[in-house]
Amino acid sequence: MDKIQESEKLREKELTEIIILKKEEINECKNSDLLKKYNYKAKGTFFAQEDNILYVGLETNKSHLDKYSVYEDVAISILKSLKSLNITEAILDINNVHFKCDVCKYIFIQALILGCYEFNIFKTKKTEESIEYNLNLNLLSNNLNDRKILEDIKIIAQSVNFVRDIVNTPPNIANSTFFADTVKNEALKLDSNCVEVNVHSNDFLKQEKMGAFLAVNQASNFPAYLVHLKYKPKNKDGDLKRVVIVGKGLVYDTGGLSLKSADYMTTMKADKGGASVAAGIFYAAVNLNLNIELHCILGITDNAIGKNSYRPDDVLISREGKSIEVKNTDAEGRLVLVDCLSFAQDLKPDYLLDFATLTGACVVSLGEYTSGVMGFNDKLKASFVESSLKVNELSHTLPFNVHLQKLLKSSIADISNISSSRYGGAMTAGLFLSEFIRDEYKDKWIHIDIAGPTYVSKEWGINSEGASGFGVRSCIEFLRCLV
Ligand code: BES
Ligand code: ZN
Ligand code: ZN
Repeated sequence: MDKIQESEKLREKELTEIIILKKEEINECKNSDLLKKYNYKAKGTFFAQEDNILYVGLETNKSHLDKYSVYEDVAISILKSLKSLNITEAILDINNVHFKCDVCKYIFIQALILGCYEFNIFKTKKTEESIEYNLNLNLLSNNLNDRKILEDIKIIAQSVNFVRDIVNTPPNIANSTFFADTVKNEALKLDSNCVEVNVHSNDFLKQEKMGAFLAVNQASNFPAYLVHLKYKPKNKDGDLKRVVIVGKGLVYDTGGLSLKSADYMTTMKADKGGASVAAGIFYAAVNLNLNIELHCILGITDNAIGKNSYRPDDVLISREGKSIEVKNTDAEGRLVLVDCLSFAQDLKPDYLLDFATLTGACVVSLGEYTSGVMGFNDKLKASFVESSLKVNELSHTLPFNVHLQKLLKSSIADISNISSSRYGGAMTAGLFLSEFIRDEYKDKWIHIDIAGPTYVSKEWGINSEGASGFGVRSCIEFLRCLV
């Protein structure tokens, strides 16, 4: 789906026409007699074969929770119906669609693109499910601005799909080297006048005294990587805000010696979701020419088990100089992150964000669909949540408090890598990170735990089973609101 056509030429072709209508529009629409005959009341879809028209119901007053997702639902039912009818070319005149607001229109078009995503490269038998299905959906619009909107959406969708692909790629292929190379190669396709890529590995991490990050990598068959992507737009006026985004890139998380049980280990290929989304945000920001200076720092390794594994009881010295008592090797993401966050603060950011599939506890508290936003700056947290909701991704704030903070005490080191309580794990993980944020950056930092929405176990909204690419849309919206 990549065309918005102004001309009427397409109408003359034998294309399937899609008509979206509300219940009260049935009487005035094309073929209203036929629709009445079949008792179609603008609920779900109805395909009038003789006229080659697909009718799709728009139920705008479902509930006040459905302000935007009703439009996503319509887009998804269009895609599903076209696929099941094996229709590969269709037209939809969006001039006639009732959109409650411009955001609704944006979300609808975006859903038409993002809802087409499939990951079936490993299917050797081409079943109906796995066969590549290429839809050519022509949107008709008299509004020139819709073309701009479509261009914008395509850039963002390309990044979301990049994130989905990389997160979906299995760990026997997507090892740390593959991941770092893929991110680098993708960045090298961008405008070299304003983009710089640096891929650092173990020697650099040693030189930088990243003892926490290195410990996690100890048993791996592959190096650890810190990928630094930098974007500085040319010829832009005024003061550029410097934004640094850090991402957790665990290409696989076995839990290490504190080994995960079988049920909890599956899907841990998605533990690279934070670094993947950071890369996705980077590509989108560059292609959209955003007026900010952006650095993305990706901490990449796996958390393997082997004779060189780091152990519970080890004490590590982080780049910030703080000592950490390891009480659980499965709380590895925060170890990688604190060294990356330390590196990130040296870049003197105006805003510092981190994305991480950090805790199962975040999924327990907010559910699978919502990311948890933490930090000390209420305005910044609220701004991220607002941006997220505006693009129909879900985020909510989680609070820090001093009682939770005390649970991280260690008797032999400066801090323990896990809380002494089984409760409040998302916040104690966030508070662990906060201990490595210097005072001058405390109000500039937010932590986004994306453990829930990164990987979809049962399809919802525009996401089929697998990686969602969550965070690209929220963050791009957030960055746009900064400037
Ligand atoms: N990668 C996991 C968190 C996770 C869980 C992500 C479920 C996605 C879905 C993380 O490294 C982890 O294992 N966290 C532990 C922390 C615990 C040991 C304090 C967890 O959540 O159980
Ligand atoms: Zn873990
Ligand atoms: Zn992890």
